[in-house]
Amino acid sequence: MNSASDTQLSADPQSGSENAIQRVLVLEMVRVTEKAAIAAALLVGRGDEKAADAAAVAAMRKAFDNLYIDGTVVIGEGERDEAPMLFIGEKVGMGKGPKIDIALDPLEGTTITAKAGPNALAVLAAAEEGCLLNAPDVYMDKLAVGPGYPEGIIDLAKSATENVCAVANAKGVKPSEINVCVLDRPRHAELIAELRALGCGVVLIGDGDVAGVIAVTDENTTIDMYMGQGGAPEGVLAAAALRCVGGQFNGRLVFRNDDERARARKWGIEDLNRIYKLEDLAKGDCIFAATGVTDGSLLAGVKRRRKVTGETILTTESVVMRASSGTVRWIRGEHRIP
Ligand code: FBP
Repeated sequence: MNSASDTQLSADPQSGSENAIQRVLVLEMVRVTEKAAIAAALLVGRGDEKAADAAAVAAMRKAFDNLYIDGTVVIGEGERDEAPMLFIGEKVGMGKGPKIDIALDPLEGTTITAKAGPNALAVLAAAEEGCLLNAPDVYMDKLAVGPGYPEGIIDLAKSATENVCAVANAKGVKPSEINVCVLDRPRHAELIAELRALGCGVVLIGDGDVAGVIAVTDENTTIDMYMGQGGAPEGVLAAAALRCVGGQFNGRLVFRNDDERARARKWGIEDLNRIYKLEDLAKGDCIFAATGVTDGSLLAGVKRRRKVTGETILTTESVVMRASSGTVRWIRGEHRIP
């Protein structure tokens, strides 16, 4: 790993800038998610969601300090008065260099981490200023499918049955051969019943719908589609990943009361029923980075190994992708703890 001064030099825009999302930033973002994942991993299985989240937030906040960016958190830990660090609008980075908007979730899967379950991630997306939807912290109806299908194959305005049939038809299989990932929540009882009536395989996940949505793009999973309501910030993060690796996504904000509607208007959202597609959520060039906290379908979690020399090695697995090039890098890090 480079030292902080290497970071400043290598990330200096004077040394060969191309656009605001510089190539060098792609790898820098992984340092940030690695630090958050390592901090959270110390608390895996300890039954304390808040402590795990706080550790990841503090580590991610500190890791940003070394980045030559003029960053602004657009999706973060909450509004200024409710989050001490990484709140929406907080400036991160050295305050010099390219202006970057950042959507982040230092610990996506706080309950998973507390219970040592699968698919907890430290995750962020970065894009040029103004390119990420400033989504309020409300629910979002999500519908996603992997790459290779005709554009517009999925449509949130249609029923789950119509969407499954369209995907099955394009894939040349029966609807009963389609597997759909859904968050295991009482609010999804009707959706799950509709999918089971079609004979679909319903892959229920306890938490972590960023990994759930990304799973549709991964041929190693058997998941064809993602459906159901989860957090809107997680929707923007997942959309940034799909912008890089392909696939289609529809999202519609879900408001449970007037307070949530007012919050959305405050963020400049006028059409409250709008169906957002990938480019509406994350446009232009963008980067998505994630490091596994616990083992999951996307990434292995942080592992600790003690050598006979007394040295402790932490192993991390990360992925970083960039929309403009479509490059996906899988990075295995070894971190020495004296
Ligand atoms: P946290 O890390 O904030 O606990 O989020 C986990 C998560 O499962 C997300 O992946 C998902 O979008 C959201 O919670 C669903 O919310 P809810 O638990 O209220 O159904």
